[in-house]
Amino acid sequence: MTRRVGAANASVAAEYGVPCLADADLVLEQSRGRLQLRDTRPGAPGPIWADFPAPASDRRLRAGRGLLLARACGVRKGRPLPCVLDATAGLGHDAWALAGLGCLVTAVERDPVVSALLRDGLARARAEAPDTAARLELVHDDAVRVMTPGRFWDVVYLDPMFPDVGATALPGKEMQYFRALLPHARDDAGLLDRARACATGRVVVKRARLAPPLDPRRDADVTFEGKSVRFDVYLA
Ligand SMILES: C[S@@+](CC[C@H](N)C(=O)[O-])C[C@H]1O[C@@H](n2cnc3c(N)ncnc32)[C@H](O)[C@@H]1O
Repeated sequence: MTRRVGAANASVAAEYGVPCLADADLVLEQSRGRLQLRDTRPGAPGPIWADFPAPASDRRLRAGRGLLLARACGVRKGRPLPCVLDATAGLGHDAWALAGLGCLVTAVERDPVVSALLRDGLARARAEAPDTAARLELVHDDAVRVMTPGRFWDVVYLDPMFPDVGATALPGKEMQYFRALLPHARDDAGLLDRARACATGRVVVKRARLAPPLDPRRDADVTFEGKSVRFDVYLA
């Protein structure tokens, strides 16, 4: 079912290019010094926003190069840090973790509301973690349009939405919002092919641990398996 999504007032609408709606199911609003998305329906979970913690307080960054995501992306001691295209940025948890490890990250998000949350989160993070923030570039577009022939990154990272997969790496509340916000999100078959054409080192695909591979035509070259997710790595 399609949810009505809109900005709470004209200034939020103008700044983020989202329509102003008085009776939105999901409302984009400024609150407590941040931009947040709030589900107005009875019984809905509390709001979500992009939260980029300072490196020192981020459990994932403390895990450093041992982080499964980092290993899947080939971040290793003694090796140059890869430039990464995160083609499905979402709320930027993975992009921020990679930027925190020193990678230069371009994070692409096509949904205007998610993209607005990301922009606001990064603006706030610049004060707390300027070095990490400087390594993260946000692009609001469809990644298929960004991965044009002749553009290259060491690593292209994909964590797309799969409506029927069940388990996911996102926390429960965020996933509820994503399902409501992006109800028709589906696998874009072109994404992996484009990623392969643009990755000079590897394509890394995050999947629910028991989900089928994104590409039934080819097995991953390497898989890094965690408790609830796995990373399928396709070497270039
Ligand atoms: C599961 S979330 C990603 C979560 C993210 N890895 C994180 O750490 O927060 C998937 C996101 O990818 C976005 N997305 C899916 N296909 C896309 C595409 N072709 N271009 C850009 N963004 C896309 C969706 O809008 C959604 O926000």
